[in-house]
Amino acid sequence: MLRLSIAPLLFSIASILVAQEPADTNYDETRVPSYKLPDALVDNSGKQVGRDEWSAHRRAEVQTLFEDSVYGKTPDQELTARYEILDNDPEALDGRATRKQIAAFFGDDGYRLDILVYIPNQPRKPVAGFVGLNFDGNHTVHSDPGIIKRRDNKKERGTKASRWQVEMIIGQGYALATVHRDRIDPDNYRNDFTDGIHPLFYREGQERPEPREWGSIGAWAWGLSRILDYFETDPQVDATRIAVMGHSRLGKAALWAGAQDTRFALVISNNSGCGGAALYRRCYGERIHHMIKPVGYWFCTNHHQYRHREHDLPVDQHMLLGLVAPRPLYIASATADRWADPKGEFLAAKYASHVYELFNRSNLSGHDLPMPDQPIHTTVGYHLRTGKHDVTAYDWQQYLKFSDTFLKED
Ligand code: GCU
Repeated sequence: MLRLSIAPLLFSIASILVAQEPADTNYDETRVPSYKLPDALVDNSGKQVGRDEWSAHRRAEVQTLFEDSVYGKTPDQELTARYEILDNDPEALDGRATRKQIAAFFGDDGYRLDILVYIPNQPRKPVAGFVGLNFDGNHTVHSDPGIIKRRDNKKERGTKASRWQVEMIIGQGYALATVHRDRIDPDNYRNDFTDGIHPLFYREGQERPEPREWGSIGAWAWGLSRILDYFETDPQVDATRIAVMGHSRLGKAALWAGAQDTRFALVISNNSGCGGAALYRRCYGERIHHMIKPVGYWFCTNHHQYRHREHDLPVDQHMLLGLVAPRPLYIASATADRWADPKGEFLAAKYASHVYELFNRSNLSGHDLPMPDQPIHTTVGYHLRTGKHDVTAYDWQQYLKFSDTFLKED
């Protein structure tokens, strides 16, 4: 009896301890070390590259550097998907949208991902859209009772609706597709890569990824590309005008997906922080050594050697953002989200300008960190929202406005 009653208490103490930021976290701008960023436009042989060489070989080199030292390599093997349409309701959201739910099956054993899709009923032609993963289950994205809820998922319907703003997205003429991240690779510290998609790609006798092979972020990025594959089969959607969007750890995954899969026409990172848009070398807020124990499985194990050695990384995150060029890219931060280093996120976006300049695309090179709630919409968009680590209606208003510029048809 006693054991039962103190269990919730112990649990909440444990969550407080986990949520607390480590004592060595630096939030003092004057203690940010001086740093020299690797140059995206100097190739591995030390040669300065121009636009043709960037496209011919330097871009691939940079991607390989990220595979080797940060996220791990995604297997080249392609798995053909088989789709089963579980639901197709043209009267969803009071008749404003068509809701589809698709089970995508991969591999011989039929590994299954459930994709939730909303498509606006107006305009009646293929629409642009957003692809993103959700944290807690498809049914948390909206309170729509038609969304399939897995019996083993205890989260209430619609609990994360404010992060998705489905009506706003649909109302502005965009489709939305989402998958629960845990269905691709379970996000918990016991992750041993046995119960997500990794085993589908293991070689004979392999039991876990090699030090330079993908972790969870790689797997989630893979999943984002599989949603885009589905969109390519849906005649109501124009798959050449799809934005990939993610928040926090799933923003890290969205960036890595957008870097690897150039079919994504636009890339959005919301408060993605360390291992996402923030520059590692500023050592401000979260750092690599903070992540190893609780969430080291997000990265390849080779990444772990850079704990306390950010300056030795062969890359920094401005180069990841450069891999998105010349496609439009949006980085968003929040004032109270110091752990994610808003200034470091802005600077990475600013220093990605070198690559955008190769393609004569507008960029952040002439800009300083803007005041809160003063968005900058060049081909690289940025805003610093007032408030905490979250996705809000304000964030979506900016993403939709930005997408209207770059994804809407002439
Ligand atoms: C933790 C983690 C961050 C991550 C965030 C999230 O705060 O340290 O790196 O972005 O969780 O995904 O919400």
